[in-house]
Amino acid sequence: MALRKLIAGNWKMHGQSSDLEEIAAIAAASRQFENVDIALCVPAILIERASRAVPDLAIGGQDVHHAEKGAHTGCISADMLLDAGAALTIVGHSERRDAQRESDAEVKAKAEAALRCGLSAILCVGESLALREQGAAVSTVLAQLDGSLPDRPASDAELAVAYEPVWAIGTGKIPTTAEIGEMHAAIRECLLSRYGDQGQSVRILYGGSVKASNAAEIFTVPDVDGALVGGASLRAADFLPIVAAAAAAQPRAA
Ligand code: PGA
Repeated sequence: MALRKLIAGNWKMHGQSSDLEEIAAIAAASRQFENVDIALCVPAILIERASRAVPDLAIGGQDVHHAEKGAHTGCISADMLLDAGAALTIVGHSERRDAQRESDAEVKAKAEAALRCGLSAILCVGESLALREQGAAVSTVLAQLDGSLPDRPASDAELAVAYEPVWAIGTGKIPTTAEIGEMHAAIRECLLSRYGDQGQSVRILYGGSVKASNAAEIFTVPDVDGALVGGASLRAADFLPIVAAAAAAQPRAA
């Protein structure tokens, strides 16, 4: 089976009602790329309107609480995201691991909560520049995976892992293709040892300063099954060339 590439946009804390037109433009242009899965993870307040406006585009959240309900002021459960029209959510983004002090155990609980109720999850991992310079990039990411991967990927929802070096996010710097390849191969090995053959079909996305100018090269790296895109996902004109590069890339047999 050939695994379709997944290009997911992460809008972070950008987007209001006036941006629904841009989401519609992305959805309209996306329809020509039939061999790529495309998703936009928008601010929670836009999920319902976006999913109504563009029912054929997968709309996602950027975080989820691990509990089903309860006294958790300001938090949103997986069922609530689903009810609002989301099909997926990001968990464990480095900006949350850092600013909200999210631990691996918490990220694992969030991923499991999402998968349990039928939301796909994009689980983020990545090393800091200091750790890469110490030669500890791979061991850091493997330790994050060890602590934050769900015990098993649910059958009716999909798990993806996004490798996002913290030093590449929003900086315009990206690892070499050899560094990306080394990390994605290590992540694949970890997924296979954790999940057996099912680990083959978990998509591994690269994220961090993905742009129209570097996407095609990144997609030549083995085990890169797509991208998680921040800044370049905000405008159709920047995002669509990345989707086009994924559409032109070789699918991976899984
Ligand atoms: P960037 O962000 O593409 O703006 O570097 C990626 C991310 O944080 O997911």
